[in-house]
Order: sequence, then C-alpha cells, then structure tokens
Amino acid sequence: MKRIIMLMSVIAGMLTVNAQKDIPVTDQRNGQLWADTEGRHINAHGGNIIRFGDTYYWYGENRPYRGFTTEAGIQVYSSKDLRTWKDEGVALAVSNEAGSDIERGCIMERPKVVYNEKTHKFVMLFHLELKGKGYAAARVAFAQSDTPVGPFLFIRSTRVNAGIWPFDMDQAARQAAMQTDASRWKEWWTPAWRKEVEKGMYLWRDFKDGQMSRDMTVYIDDDGKAYHITSSQENLTLLVSELTDDYLDFTGKYNMVAPGGQNEAPTIFKNDGVYWLICSGCTGWSPNEARMFSAKSIWGPWKQHKSPFVGLATGYRDMPADKTFGAQGTYVLPIGKRFVFMADIWNPRHLSQSLHLWLPIEFDASGTPKICWADHWYESLHLN
Ligand code: GAL
Repeated sequence: MKRIIMLMSVIAGMLTVNAQKDIPVTDQRNGQLWADTEGRHINAHGGNIIRFGDTYYWYGENRPYRGFTTEAGIQVYSSKDLRTWKDEGVALAVSNEAGSDIERGCIMERPKVVYNEKTHKFVMLFHLELKGKGYAAARVAFAQSDTPVGPFLFIRSTRVNAGIWPFDMDQAARQAAMQTDASRWKEWWTPAWRKEVEKGMYLWRDFKDGQMSRDMTVYIDDDGKAYHITSSQENLTLLVSELTDDYLDFTGKYNMVAPGGQNEAPTIFKNDGVYWLICSGCTGWSPNEARMFSAKSIWGPWKQHKSPFVGLATGYRDMPADKTFGAQGTYVLPIGKRFVFMADIWNPRHLSQSLHLWLPIEFDASGTPKICWADHWYESLHLN
C-alpha cells in the first residue's frame, strides 16, 4: 500500500511539473510559453513588431497545434509596453475560396508588416506556399490594410524579379550564368556544383519565371525606402530587392548576397551607419549556428563575421551558442538606441507551441554585435 501511495505521489508530481511547463508565464521568461492577456500562449511566429503611435503591434504566423499548414492566417497582438500583449485576432485571414492563392491549407510564413508614410497604409509581405504544393511555389505575397490590426486585404503573390538581372552583374557575369544548366547537376555540394551556383546557375534556371522567395524580411531605411530580403535559389542565395514607393511591388533593382551560402531567416538592422544582417543556416525546424554579415550600404559588399551568439543558454537545456540557443531569428526590434533579437524556438510537433526567444543585442569594443543568453530580454535594457 505504502509503495502504491509513493508511486501515486511520484506520478502526481510528474503531472504537476508537466502542467506547470505548459502554463504560459506572464514575465516573458525565455524558454517558456508566453502568456497574452487571456493567459494563452502568444501564437505569432516568424513575424515582426512595429510601433504606431503609442502602441506596438506584433504580427506572426498563427500556427495550428497539429499539422503544418495555415488554417487561420496571420495573427496580431497589441501592447503599450512590449510586456503585456492583447490578442487582436487574425489580421490577414486565409480564404475559403477554392483556388485562391491564400486558400485555407496554404502555408503563410514570416510575415513582416511595415507602415507606409506616403500612402498611410499598413503593408504586409510574407512567404506564401500554395495549397497542396509543399514548399515548391516559393512566392512572396502582398497584403494591405488601413489599420494596424486589419483586416488586411490580400493583393497578390508572385515570384521575384522575373526576367531581370541583378544590377551589379556585368555582361561577362551574365554570359557565364547563361552558360550554366541546372538540370545537369544531379549531385549537390560537389566543388564543381558550388562553382556553378556561384555563377548564378539557379538565378538563370528561374530567370524567366522569377526567382524563388522563401524566408524573408523587409527593411525600411532612414530615407523611407523599403527592401525585401529573401532566401532564394533553393535557399542557397539571398536576394536584396528594392520595393516601389508604395511597398506593393519591386522596382527591379536587386542583387545577390552570399551566393551558395545557404542563409535563411534573414534579420537586419543598422547601427552607427553599419547594416548588420543576421541569418540562420538551413536545417528546417532544427536549430543551427547563426551567421552574420555587415556592410556600409544595403547593396554591399557584405563582409561575413562569426556568429554573434556567445555562451550557453544557462537554465534552458544548456543550449549552446552554436545552436543559436535552440532558436532561429525572425526580426530585430529597435527600441530607442537598443536592439532586441527576436527568434522562435520551433516545436515541429506542435507548431503553435513554438517558443519565443528575445535577447538584447550588445556591442563589443569594436562595435560588433554580441548576443548572450538572458532569462528575460528586458533585464539589461533599463527601459524605464
Ligand atoms: C525553416 C524556415 C521556416 C520554415 C521551416 C519549414 O528553415 O526558417 O520558416 O519554412 O524551415 O521546414
């Protein structure tokens, strides 16, 4: 009897621990589920945050508990202090219309919302995969709204820069790209294959129909110009493309960054006139080592640095820096003169339960970004 009681109390103990683990916390502790004002985990992944008036809006993928496709749309939360988040509902909803680009069951990822000072509209760009096509469509989509919480109206989805060469590719480089033939290369990762990728093999393969666009972000520069930064060419090469003044199209000016470098999850910010690009490697939902580049101009040249992540995620499974503490970046949020790196700790079994990891970006003596683990993103920011 005694043994049964002991066993029962051990099981009860295990259940409590599990239950506690599943209860969203209100103090935004990294490595835990984060509560909104209703006590529900914030279901906004791969997204970004903007400030409008005295309110912050957090947009992200509303992910289902089971499965990978988008059943609701892009969610939006609001906050005055970045700490208490109110669920404002679905900002851009999937469509019930069969055949629509955003038909329920498509995949909407990595939404980025920006405010256009000229048109006074909120513009959303996101990665779209068409229903039933896995990740083959690789498109970017545009939506627009008069208010920050939506409803956003879907405008269209497209491949990128069809029929246009990167502006910095000269005649000789174009000729070299045109000589490549992607259909010949069955085996990837050989030195010869890599050479062809650097020449623009996949750029040329997709030249006519437009370049692929998967993980992406949008950056608004100080002059109001917007840039779309995306993982293209089978996730091998990043493209930086200028957007039109209304942010609803591409101007056609673009270039490639780190051809063949396999950079995903691009995030970008500018500090003291230097652009910093922090990306991940390409291992699906599993974490990998972050990569970092800097440039004096958005058009490069980009210099590669080592990953800004340092140390261990102490207290959170001791995840090491070379696994980005278990996370993958999504956005860099400027707060005053400081920056917060926002990332997702993906939970592919239950994507809605993926965790948020926010960490302040520090700078070393040479001005290079450095990101260490902290239990709370706001601890060292002294915001008040
Ligand atoms: C990741 C990417 C995510 C999602 C996932 C699907 O590499 O960053 O946004 O596309 O792959 O496996």
